Amino acid sequence: MDTLTLNLGARSYPIHIGSDILSTLGQLLKQQNFLTGRVGVITDSHVGKHYRNPVTNILTAEGFEPVVIEIPAGEEHKNLAWLTFLYDKLVEGRIERNSPLIALGGGVIGDLTGFAAATFRRGVPFIQIPTTLLAQVDASVGGKTAVNHPAGKNLIGAFYQPRMVLVDVAVLKTLPKREFVSGIAEVIKYGVILSPELFGLLEEELKVLLSVNPALLTSVVKTCCQLKALVVEEDETEGDYRAILNFGHTMGHAIESATSYKSFLHGEAVALGMVFATHLSQQRGLCRPAVRDRVVRLIKQAGLPIDIPQDLAQEHLRIGIEADKKVTAGKVKFVCLEDIGKTRFEFLSAAEIVGHLYQSAS
Ligand code: NAD
Ligand code: GLY
Repeated sequence: MDTLTLNLGARSYPIHIGSDILSTLGQLLKQQNFLTGRVGVITDSHVGKHYRNPVTNILTAEGFEPVVIEIPAGEEHKNLAWLTFLYDKLVEGRIERNSPLIALGGGVIGDLTGFAAATFRRGVPFIQIPTTLLAQVDASVGGKTAVNHPAGKNLIGAFYQPRMVLVDVAVLKTLPKREFVSGIAEVIKYGVILSPELFGLLEEELKVLLSVNPALLTSVVKTCCQLKALVVEEDETEGDYRAILNFGHTMGHAIESATSYKSFLHGEAVALGMVFATHLSQQRGLCRPAVRDRVVRLIKQAGLPIDIPQDLAQEHLRIGIEADKKVTAGKVKFVCLEDIGKTRFEFLSAAEIVGHLYQSAS
């Protein structure tokens, strides 16, 4: 098992990464000074089927009293109604001020549990056990927690850092292939924006990675968590620099919203958004066509979509971009690409952004 530290002074925390390391959960909790007592385990109906019993048994064997709370799987349950359900169950389960809440699931469970942990009894400790690739490389690290509101995704949230992240890549064996590939989009993002080395490795080893190879996955997930930790350490609450992690997300979120979150998984929409951001950068003379071609090739080889459906009206996408909670004074801080591993922010209106849609490559 490898352990990284995300350094945030008194709120620093370890990120443990390995394959088949779930069994160490009880000991790792004890290292964090949780010695006995109740532990909330929040999971969803798909993840619970596979990991609810193993996790409960591990905790019971170490002298803890797990209180398992299951939410139906799916983004549509990341909302205030299910947050209320969760609070009710935490009260019923007599979760106390020092009882940790474990998020056992993908980004939906991580975001929902994190927000509940930030607010229940004015804050209870929070542990992340991410079970999707997307959550392992992105959502579980960095302390963004939220629920959705009918007026917008992640509109109600808080920055609240976990006490520990336990990443076991072995749980990805049960993850549906399409979800796994969706997570690869975020892995590619780290290579594109921050690391020519990671990008080159992905170009060489993509097939092996797609075969869910535990050794390669452990190493790649570790690299992504290291890169994300560096960004969060520099700018925890997204004053400025952390916004580079939004590469591909401005258009990605607009596509998700314009398709009512039904046509694309998050990573798939981000893949389309990264291809778009790369084309936009090349069209504005910020990056060379060869750079654009490398990015598009890798995304395509991963089995991710690269063509924004032509029937998506520019008008819908423009409205989606304008609704983004990150718009200030009518301009979006759009993450552009200069080279692999090198980005820059351009402040663009939604109309300027969509003006680059459906332009043919040159
Ligand atoms: P998800 O949590 O919905 O999980 C995807 C699907 O896979 C679900 O059906 C789930 O039940 C299933 N699943 C999860 N792990 C499994 C496993 N090991 N075996 C079998 N099935 C499994 O989706 P996601 O892609 O993990 O997360 C998307 C969410 O994350 C969005 O709500 C997004 O807003 C949020 N997010 C948050 C951050 C952040 O920084 N907080 C970053 C990126 C995304
Ligand atoms: N997922 C982007 C961030 O954590 O800032």
